[in-house]
Amino acid sequence: MPVGHFPLSRPRRNRHDAATRRLVAENSLAVDNLIWPIFFTEGTDTVTEVASMPGAHRVTLDRLARHVEPAARLGIPALALFPVTPTEVRDERGTEATNPDNLMCRAARLLKQEFPDIALIGDVALDPYTSHGHDGLVKDGYVVNDASVEILVQQSVNQALAGVDIIAPSDMMDGRIAAIRRALDSNDLTNTRIMSYAAKYASAFYGPFRDALGSGSMLKGDKKTYQMDPANSDEALREVEMDIAEGADMVMVKPGMPYLDIIRRVRDTFSMPTFAYQVSGEYAMLMAAINNGWLERERAIMESLLAFRRAGANGVLTYFAIEAATTIRETLGR
Ligand code: PBG
Repeated sequence: MPVGHFPLSRPRRNRHDAATRRLVAENSLAVDNLIWPIFFTEGTDTVTEVASMPGAHRVTLDRLARHVEPAARLGIPALALFPVTPTEVRDERGTEATNPDNLMCRAARLLKQEFPDIALIGDVALDPYTSHGHDGLVKDGYVVNDASVEILVQQSVNQALAGVDIIAPSDMMDGRIAAIRRALDSNDLTNTRIMSYAAKYASAFYGPFRDALGSGSMLKGDKKTYQMDPANSDEALREVEMDIAEGADMVMVKPGMPYLDIIRRVRDTFSMPTFAYQVSGEYAMLMAAINNGWLERERAIMESLLAFRRAGANGVLTYFAIEAATTIRETLGR
């Protein structure tokens, strides 16, 4: 056989066995990279599965500590808190968002006391509290910017005072990061971090989440006048740049899997701590296929999460956090 007939370079050599594959792996997923979004409600002693999110639950406050215990045991660094506000306390202006004793604040105080080492991330937007389901105030059918920011600022301070460590504005109003930063600082909350939902798209993939919160059926119209157009990518960089300039400590891209290109551009351009949200619709798609036997459960879940790391994300908000952390701890032993 003449020399040179076969390739000298054979990329397959590095794939020959598991030990070598581990040595050359460029990315990995650790428990440190996982953030678990949780839903909680008023009432007692009740755990309900979200119909469109099999395996994800809404729990009453008295069950919250038990619900979160696995996250603490597995060492998940952060939780993202989502209150399911009863319809009766919703109003046009989302007033309940600023109530120091609202469901969100009670949950934050409880979790801070039970699990002081877990970081609490508080979503800031009015949609859990408004009767129309929008993230801001509606005037003549339009979600107005500056008046919304004023309430979002109060909502942020309210959450931070209750023990939320990381304020995560998901409302996409202009200028809200600067306004929130100033308000936190003037309330002696200089160490409260801001993780901005900087590039958040008007996406069809939030449907199951709105079911989980009960805001889906209330939503009048859509969120296209404030959330981004899925057609755009350069605009995401401008949004992220502004939020960083306004004081964001970490930035987020949302949804996740259909927007891996945005995560990569954001990470390459700004080198900021960058997070991705594997949203409810992505979870629902994977679970539907898994429950039909069309995808292998563990492999599909872990591959979907590793993809975010490869795209440049520091961490991922995922409803699979407990399952993925369990797999990492038990199967991979790290
Ligand atoms: C609230 C908010 C939404 C999500 C996170 N924060 C819904 C929306 O913007 O309508 C979606 C999360 C998910 O789908 O998992 N503004």
